[in-house]
Amino acid sequence: MDVYQAVATRRAVRGFTDQPVEREVIERVLSAAANSPSGSNLQPWNIYVVTGEPLAQLKKVATERVAAGEPWDEREYVMYPHDLKSPYGERRAAFGRDRYTALGVAREDWEARTRAAIANWDCFGAPMALFCYIDRDLGMPQWSDVGMYLQTAMLLLRAEGLHSCPQMAWSQVRKSVDAVTSPPPELMLFCGMSIGYEDSGVSFVRNARAPLGETVTFIDG
Ligand SMILES: Cc1cc2nc3c(=O)[nH]c(=O)nc-3n(C[C@H](O)[C@H](O)[C@H](O)COP(=O)(O)O)c2cc1C
Repeated sequence: MDVYQAVATRRAVRGFTDQPVEREVIERVLSAAANSPSGSNLQPWNIYVVTGEPLAQLKKVATERVAAGEPWDEREYVMYPHDLKSPYGERRAAFGRDRYTALGVAREDWEARTRAAIANWDCFGAPMALFCYIDRDLGMPQWSDVGMYLQTAMLLLRAEGLHSCPQMAWSQVRKSVDAVTSPPPELMLFCGMSIGYEDSGVSFVRNARAPLGETVTFIDG
């Protein structure tokens, strides 16, 4: 698979089979992903890979917490500005609309929407999750480095025939994640990522992108 194919076929997959991901494969992917660039080569990513019984327990605790309507853990970072201005607000609305349309869920069907959202903390059925932490003392450029690492990992997963879904949703139950990963105190959870083989029976809509001219400006001589 070439890089264009990996980019074109990566998407946030929200339905996985229970086929396990081999340890050897994820080690190969994360070893290669470590070649991602970072300012002054800080390599600010800290990754925990969770599978098997610890993941099963975490899924249980997290989904039960959310289903019981427990409050989120207090936030360590703001996921989105409160008022998402244009064009971001419209893009977010379009994403929500497409997602629930693909699932056949009506806008006003809160129960079905909640069920779909809760699937986040079941890793959408995936048998493996990674949790990405960053040192609280680091700043915006290092968060960007972490993003590059995660994207590199997601593309390499495609090369292995695997899919992924990056999930900030895990930050909402970060204390339950910490209970499993036991990170050193200076680390904070950025996001989780479900990893596995796609369940092709789960319908989805491919999220459209803004046309090139909306996000890219060419300045020619
Ligand atoms: C940092 C980050 C966090 C995300 N968090 C979630 C999440 O919690 N749950 C989810 O279902 N998707 C999540 N996504 C997936 C996005 O919704 C998805 O990438 C976006 O809609 C574009 O769609 P695509 O990745 O399928 O092309 C996240 C993506 C990123 C990059």
